[in-house]
Amino acid sequence: MENFTAYNPTKLHFGKGVTDILGETVNEYGKRVLLMYGKGSVQKNGIYDKVISQLKSIDAEIFEYSGIKPNPLVEDVSEAAQIGKLNNIDVIIAVGGGSVIDSAKITALAISNNTDPWAIMKYEAKPKSTIPLIAVLTLAATGTEMNGAAVLQNLETDEKIGYVSLLNYPKHSFLDPEFTFTVPKDYTAYGVVDLIAHALEAYFGEGEASLSDRFIEVIIKEAMEYGPMLLKDLKNYEYRANIMWAATTALNGMTNYGRKSGDWGVHDIGHNISYLYDTPHGATLSIAYPAWLRLQKDRIPERITKLGNQLFGTNSVDETISNLEEFFKSIDCPIKLSDINIGKDKKEEIVTQMLKNKINGMVHQFTDDDRKVIVDLMM
Ligand code: NZQ
Ligand code: ZN
Repeated sequence: MENFTAYNPTKLHFGKGVTDILGETVNEYGKRVLLMYGKGSVQKNGIYDKVISQLKSIDAEIFEYSGIKPNPLVEDVSEAAQIGKLNNIDVIIAVGGGSVIDSAKITALAISNNTDPWAIMKYEAKPKSTIPLIAVLTLAATGTEMNGAAVLQNLETDEKIGYVSLLNYPKHSFLDPEFTFTVPKDYTAYGVVDLIAHALEAYFGEGEASLSDRFIEVIIKEAMEYGPMLLKDLKNYEYRANIMWAATTALNGMTNYGRKSGDWGVHDIGHNISYLYDTPHGATLSIAYPAWLRLQKDRIPERITKLGNQLFGTNSVDETISNLEEFFKSIDCPIKLSDINIGKDKKEEIVTQMLKNKINGMVHQFTDDDRKVIVDLMM
């Protein structure tokens, strides 16, 4: 086991009705609130009204920034930060999925340090402080509600990249599984894939970490058991709750203790596919993971076989990969680019993007040849 520090500063409130204390929680940080959300789902499903009534109960002064898109853009963060600075806000409330919460994390840093958000994303600026962030999660997938990561894309530089900092952890996150009842079937499935992918990125990281490996195994089993049940019964509280908590635990540090790092090569592939075709994050991962495993199958056969043994009771690399692929298929997620209508005519474009951004894993590094092979394997 590697040395490690366990620290997670987010206070997480989980369960039915937890946002009943949102107002009083916000009040601890101030009354000038920047409320950030996406393209309108929170208005349709009533979550917006619940949040507003909590804020009114403390006479908060509310400034809004909405329209954050899935695969969020840095330009929205710049605009939100302008509004935050102009109005001297005390606290940010992010209501949404990963895209909104990630945007809010970088908005908070950009305001507090009076810095260009992309310079933060590129690790060129060195933020020293932040504005308190309170997250109200509406989609189970990314784990952003209890971690220090944020992912944004920039249409000028052709990048979708992540930035990790201790400053990014929300002060509080509110997770009411009922708030996810309206997530459509496809995005619910992408969330299941995303959480499995997070567990796998840790599994293929560096360092022997027995207990963390076991956490990974049970998190993936939880997702594989409750994911399909949830997809047949989208308003089932228990299934929503189980998947929501599994998604948080898949990326809140627990699967990585005792390791030097996760790998994250599959995510880098996925981010570049999302960048090119605006593909939902989880849908890129169900395509990229089987391809990545096929690329690695002669390099790390024992590790892949062990995974298959733990998850499916199988004893070979090929069976591990085909079982994982079958699972993704069974929840209607794409496993090839052709499943999302990206044909062979796009191969050159994708290879160029992968080479230009030098996609890589932290542990299993790619050569340029690998970058080409992985595209073939996704076709
Ligand atoms: O924009 P609105 O109208 O809110 O609609 C959203 C969006 O269209 C909708 N939605 C969210 N909650 C809903 C709902 N629809 C109905 N009912 C609800 N309760 O779902 C769509 C997708 O939302 P988004 O926030 O994009 O999804 P997700 O939570 O999967 O976030 C994806 C983003 O997070 C990044 C991804 O790369 C991607 O940009 N990630 C962030 C990570 C992190 N910070 O730790 C790690 C991940 O690996 C990932 O990279
Ligand atoms: Zn992910």
